[in-house]
Amino acid sequence: MSAAADPAPSAAPSDSDLVRAARGLPVSRTPVWFMRQAGRSLPEYRALRAGTGMLAACQDPDLVTEITLQPVRRHGVDAAILFSDIVLPLLVAGVDLDIKPGVGPVVAQPIRSVADVDALPPLEPDRLAFLDTAVRQLVAELGPTPLIGFAGAPFTLATYLIEGGPSKEHARTKAFMYAEPEAWGRLLDRLAVSAATFLRTQVDAGASAVQLFDSWAGVLSAADYAERVLPHSRAVFDGLGSRDVPRIHFGVGTGELLPLIGDAGADVVGVDWRIPLDEAARRVGPGRSLQGNLDPAVLLADRSTVDREVRRVVEQGRAARGHVFNLGHGVLPDTDPGVLTHVVELVHELSMSPAHP
Ligand code: CP3
Repeated sequence: MSAAADPAPSAAPSDSDLVRAARGLPVSRTPVWFMRQAGRSLPEYRALRAGTGMLAACQDPDLVTEITLQPVRRHGVDAAILFSDIVLPLLVAGVDLDIKPGVGPVVAQPIRSVADVDALPPLEPDRLAFLDTAVRQLVAELGPTPLIGFAGAPFTLATYLIEGGPSKEHARTKAFMYAEPEAWGRLLDRLAVSAATFLRTQVDAGASAVQLFDSWAGVLSAADYAERVLPHSRAVFDGLGSRDVPRIHFGVGTGELLPLIGDAGADVVGVDWRIPLDEAARRVGPGRSLQGNLDPAVLLADRSTVDREVRRVVEQGRAARGHVFNLGHGVLPDTDPGVLTHVVELVHELSMSPAHP
């Protein structure tokens, strides 16, 4: 296929610009989607969610389908991401937790001992029928647009289980990791198994790519990450077996971990805004594509700043084997949805014209 400007989407999601960029193949335009594109920045989302709790909504196939489609219809993004949450596999397995509005996941009985680790219930695949239904419905509705399935990585899930909720320093998590290395390994093993089950269900129902969110891995040194976390994230990707879908691996503040994040088994490394994409491409090496990395706060600035920063990210992304345009982290709730639509149009327009000298 030539890289000629042909804005028409190809017929199969497996041959979409998202999948092609993830594999380092030529694309018609740089594909763009946004982490947290489904959610509070959209009035139609708030209307649909009114009266339904976050975790109940995630288990209702019709709501999941509609909420996932909303940003695709509104912004014309090149991929849908399943409306769900990283803590959902834990909830389905029987962990007592909730997502508190404006706070995040809160766990009723945090893991504080080796016995707590051993009491963590396994995720039975037959409890994921709602997920299979939602993904099948979505794939039918999406047509040529690929659906990205996702899961939380073992480390990031462990932070919620051990801290009991969101935290900045993750001190209890690290203390447990150092004090109880065997139980830590067992905990992350179990979380890897349930994350892999969650991903397999989505891929077998038709998801065209997967993203593993290790949002908080950036709090670790490279040595600790390599020894105590990476093998478990690799186990999640390995759990996909021969399923031939691109694997995206993302964390925040991972500048020093970028080569390792790739080594865990990613086709695409997600990068936050702290490291320019040309530098990230050097750190990650030639065999992987990049995703990112506009600072979500830029979308709250004036239009000329937005345009300048989008242009910079598109230019720097040309250094990568393939580039999937995204934010460096999720859409902030106050973001004007019109700005997101504008960014999609601008990325498409810029990436169809030759690079600036
Ligand atoms: O990206 C998408 O649009 C798809 C849906 C999605 C959600 N959560 C929906 C959601 C995805 C991919 C996630 C992943 C997720 N959840 C991560 C990894 C990505 C990241 O942001 O780093 C993490 C760490 C979580 C845990 C979590 N769930 C947090 C920190 C929060 C925010 C709390 C808040 O209200 O500020 C949630 C809740 C959540 N997950 C919301 C949505 C749309 C908001 C809840 C609501 O609308 O009531």
